[in-house]
Amino acid sequence: MKTHYLIVLLLVFAACNTKPKKQDTPKEAQPAEKEMKAVSVTKEPFGTLPDGEEVERYTLTNANGLEMKVMTYGGIITSLQTPDKDGKKGDIVLGFDTLEGYLQDVPYFGALIGRYGNRIANGKFKLDGKEYTLAKNDGPNHLHGGKKGFDKVLWTASETRSEDGPALKLQYHSKDMEEGYPGNLDVTVVYTLTDNDELRVDYSASTDKKTVLNLTQHTYFNLSPESETILDEELKLNADTFLPVNTTLIPTGKPEKVEGTPFDFRQPKTIGKDIGAKNKQLEFGKGYDHCWILNGKDGEMKPAATLYDPNSGRVMEITTTEPAIQFYSGNFLDGSLVGKSDKKYVFRSGLCLETQHYPDAPNQPGFPSTVLNPGEEYHTTTIFKFTVK
Ligand code: GLA
Repeated sequence: MKTHYLIVLLLVFAACNTKPKKQDTPKEAQPAEKEMKAVSVTKEPFGTLPDGEEVERYTLTNANGLEMKVMTYGGIITSLQTPDKDGKKGDIVLGFDTLEGYLQDVPYFGALIGRYGNRIANGKFKLDGKEYTLAKNDGPNHLHGGKKGFDKVLWTASETRSEDGPALKLQYHSKDMEEGYPGNLDVTVVYTLTDNDELRVDYSASTDKKTVLNLTQHTYFNLSPESETILDEELKLNADTFLPVNTTLIPTGKPEKVEGTPFDFRQPKTIGKDIGAKNKQLEFGKGYDHCWILNGKDGEMKPAATLYDPNSGRVMEITTTEPAIQFYSGNFLDGSLVGKSDKKYVFRSGLCLETQHYPDAPNQPGFPSTVLNPGEEYHTTTIFKFTVK
């Protein structure tokens, strides 16, 4: 009897001991599992540019069915489908059904921005005593890389293998003095739609001459595609200070505390709550169009913003290695552009949350540097995570 009991005990012990080993081998199970899900990157023609160049559009689908479309012109995200709290998918970015839509005078819908996100005062900056002159494409200032910034060039696309989900690599070679900026610049942007329901954007670049660089992404979000405006969406920004601007939206150079101002988003509040407050800064921006300085270290991944839409239950959390975020509440949209599903893009129908360095840093020695030297590798990462609650 006793020996039997011992044998049973031993067998139970052996069985218990082998179990974790089986669980330890999910690596073998993973590929088969993944194959069963519709993870894919597909490609289709998306029209022809006036100069005859062909534009392609890629569709990335992750393991949970999140779907993002990106075209090679401007690296533009033309649609992003995520589920609402009832599991119903909806397109949460502003844009157009056709390439022609994007060839109108469109304020950077969905596009990659370079060489310099936001404004450079008077379209001028100096490097090592040499002055560089840029296009003044926003009143007296230079905005978003100039007349033909990275939002209007054709990127070379290729699928990349990523453990995390479907990914698309976009590359662009910007020639020395293109749009007035020095240095031959090689830029790579990788969009990954992770199986964790994140859009990860990895930017990298290198130059052969000292230059300045501030890359970002200019998607207009509306987490409630049915809603006219973004005013009922709740925003939280991980920032104790922001950069006040002058009348032409150039930072004055002196960060201010958000405490006690309409710029305080440290606790979530609806965008509409204080946007109409009597405030000089809101007057200059016609609403929010400012740069918030993120709490945490430049170069390290940290929370930047959380956007929550009580109507659809959608939540978008942004983390970044960048030191700042430009929050623009769509104040220049005026209903003249008609987009997907014949939707009129009215005043504040979309918002941008652009992770970046500070505007006008090349002219403001007190700001974190945006200089890129030959031999250095520029690298920043921003993650947009989509959930519901
Ligand atoms: C940025 C700027 C805004 C505006 C938009 C595009 O967010 O800060 O002032 O130019 O881009 O219209």
